[in-house]
Amino acid sequence: MTTDTLNLRIRQICEQTVDIHSFELVCASGAQLPPARAGSHIDIQLPGGLSRSYSLLDDGSESGAYRIAVKLEADSRGGSKWFHTQARVGTMLKACTPSNDFPLVENAPSTVLIAGGIGITPMLSMIERLSRLGKPWILHYAARSPAHMAYRKELERIAQACSGTLFLYFSGEQRRMAVHDIVSKADGNAHLYCCGPSALIDAFIEAGRQRDPVTVHYERFAASQTAALDGGFKVQLSRSGKVVSVTAGMSILDALLDAGVDIQYACSQGVCGTCKTRVISGVPDHRDECLTEAEREENGAIIPCCSGSRSPLLVLDL
Ligand code: FES
Repeated sequence: MTTDTLNLRIRQICEQTVDIHSFELVCASGAQLPPARAGSHIDIQLPGGLSRSYSLLDDGSESGAYRIAVKLEADSRGGSKWFHTQARVGTMLKACTPSNDFPLVENAPSTVLIAGGIGITPMLSMIERLSRLGKPWILHYAARSPAHMAYRKELERIAQACSGTLFLYFSGEQRRMAVHDIVSKADGNAHLYCCGPSALIDAFIEAGRQRDPVTVHYERFAASQTAALDGGFKVQLSRSGKVVSVTAGMSILDALLDAGVDIQYACSQGVCGTCKTRVISGVPDHRDECLTEAEREENGAIIPCCSGSRSPLLVLDL
């Protein structure tokens, strides 16, 4: 763990929907938590060496706690299952201080938020911030059914009290969200944000291609591309000169960890950006969801948990 590690204690657990539970996390020592900006997440270390990223629902300044919400995924790789079955009030956790890969542009003339399911979590912090700044916002929020929609009452209350407009959609009742229409009708200067299932984000990106890219923001929970696991190349660590072979079936991150290299990582899916590493030479085979198009074209950085190499040797700043 780094010096940025926080020791947290679960203060409260609430059932938000049939499959979403929320957790209030406070500093175990009683100290104040580091501040978080809208769109921030924390990486939580879970038993078994798992690390998972969770969006913060607010900046924690009023409650003195970080609030996260976790959806129990049917194909859980351990994170959501642990929170739903093992976590208890009083359980201690380690987490990194908040980081933000999905920042809110606070001076945008208008803001349109699009959320699907558990993708509402970063939007809540943005809505709270925009409301505090007295800025208008529009939220389009889709869930399978009213019973699956978390934070509906909280959102309706904020929308009524502040300058917010709320549109709710339920796919199970044939009230589907038309992402293309929402994006194409949005004001040209508006900043648009999307978070939710891959299909929703793919539709959002497609619909946003005609817009100025600086106005289009999204955050994925899961990768949409398959990881590069073909191996057959080498990675050299520029600081020690050490050379590590990446063989079939393993990611660069796997190979580095096997070789005892100290490298930070969290999601292992190319989504969170924690493992981002500078490339000194060589050509990466980018498979991530977190670098920008420009970064991928420059080949100056790689996400080693999912990306591979198009050249026989990659030299990394490690
Ligand atoms: S660990 Fe999350 S992007 Fe690599």
